[in-house]
Amino acid sequence: MSQAPSRTVVVLAAGEGKRMKSQTPKVLQPLLGRTLLGHVLAVAQAIHTDRTVVVVGHKADQVGAFLAEAAPAATPVLQAEQNGTGHAVRIALDATPDLTGTVVVLSGDVPLLRPETVEALLATHERAGAAATVLSAEVAEPGGLGRIVRGADGNLERIVEQKDATEEQRRIREINSGIYAFDAALLREALGKLSTDNAQGEEYLTDVFGILAAQGHPVAIEVAEFAYETLGCNDRAELARLRVLMRDRVNEAWMRSGVLILDPATTWIDVTATLEPDATVDQNSQILGTSSVATGAVIGPDTTLVDTTVAAGATVLRTHSIGAEIGPSATVGPYSYLRPGTRLGEKSKIGGFVEAKNAELGAGAKVPHLTYVGDATIGAKANIGAGTIFANYDGVRKSHTTVGEAAFVGSDTVLIAPVEIGPGAYVAAGSAVQKNVPAGNLGITRAPQRNVEGWVARARPGTASAEAAARATDITPEQD
Ligand code: UD1
Ligand code: CA
Repeated sequence: MSQAPSRTVVVLAAGEGKRMKSQTPKVLQPLLGRTLLGHVLAVAQAIHTDRTVVVVGHKADQVGAFLAEAAPAATPVLQAEQNGTGHAVRIALDATPDLTGTVVVLSGDVPLLRPETVEALLATHERAGAAATVLSAEVAEPGGLGRIVRGADGNLERIVEQKDATEEQRRIREINSGIYAFDAALLREALGKLSTDNAQGEEYLTDVFGILAAQGHPVAIEVAEFAYETLGCNDRAELARLRVLMRDRVNEAWMRSGVLILDPATTWIDVTATLEPDATVDQNSQILGTSSVATGAVIGPDTTLVDTTVAAGATVLRTHSIGAEIGPSATVGPYSYLRPGTRLGEKSKIGGFVEAKNAELGAGAKVPHLTYVGDATIGAKANIGAGTIFANYDGVRKSHTTVGEAAFVGSDTVLIAPVEIGPGAYVAAGSAVQKNVPAGNLGITRAPQRNVEGWVARARPGTASAEAAARATDITPEQD
């Protein structure tokens, strides 16, 4: 019985990323729902590896904490001093002496790489029976990247760093992506032969190719079908460029799966979010985190969803929502703010300038205008009048308010929690309610109204109000 050769992924993530000028290590910078390293780990997971080793160094505690949380199965290996990519891989192999088979090396700052591309690299590597295979790319501006030096026969001779390259080599536009497949045993042996005799005084992983080729081992090249996938990032301007490329790729995939995206250039969907066919996303909208949008729902324009579930047929207009569940055919907005624990039932409504937190609305319940709903349960078909405040906080603790089915709360009411409005009960507009209103009762806390006759003429003589009142009542205003 033969076993498939084992595959190990080594992710290089020890570098500082100085040019980011950030307290956050480069590989932990966010990009559409994952960190840069998170994207690379997702690739490692997708290509069916037996083991993932991550070389950490700069801010190793922070990167290690991220790994423990996001990829607990990965093995962190410490490269205390960053003496080059060859040094990094050597340390990774030293820490895993039992490692055999194929080693895939990925870079922690190359987030656009797709698993399909790594599979293509591995297929080429295996087909060629190669000791080492590099993923290259043809680019217009090779900048500071390593160049692929091919012999007259087109085969790889060596990889040369920009800083060590001749004028002629610098004109080569086929670059080294920093992504490779190696035979573990031959890699281990070649790493032992690296020198630091180069422009940067570092152990170059790239020198492994020249060493193996000179020994007569077959080395291979896989040219990336899409060069942009191999882009790394060194500063925030480059990170912004990667973000745009990722956004376009994500949007294109959702559009091909049947989602209507009206303005892809202003629509940002995290890779962790999901949408169903016939969902619509209007311009200037962000669908972030674990958000999901069901069929027939319309999001935006100008809406941000974070970890929010939107059921079929709901509409969410000019809204900021975090951790809410929006039910089937519910309507939200414009200008609403939904906070964690908000759960909106079928065909319920959250209207303009409404903030909701830890609030459950039953089917068909309506909160149409200018309201704060905090810590509340609102029954089906209840109606909450304009300007109602659910006063949930007494300065010390938060309390709950219950509004029963088909209850009616008049405008400009304060419901002082804890309080209960029974099913079918009414609350008169302008009330400050602190006692329960039983089912079917009317609760009213207003002071009786008193009209002071002729007050305006006496107290505000000569004003437009006094004149208007005079015309309306045929009383001649007093002159002074
Ligand atoms: C390297 C390649 C270059 C290639 C480029 C692609 C070498 C010598 N050169 O350039 O041919 O075009 O990648 O981006 O390999 N890292 C460590 N420990 C270290 C040094 C680096 O973990 O001691 C990590 C970095 O965090 C990064 C990756 O390795 O994730 C690449 O390092 P970086 O310095 O960006 O690449 P270069 O060496 O400039
Ligand atoms: Ca680099």
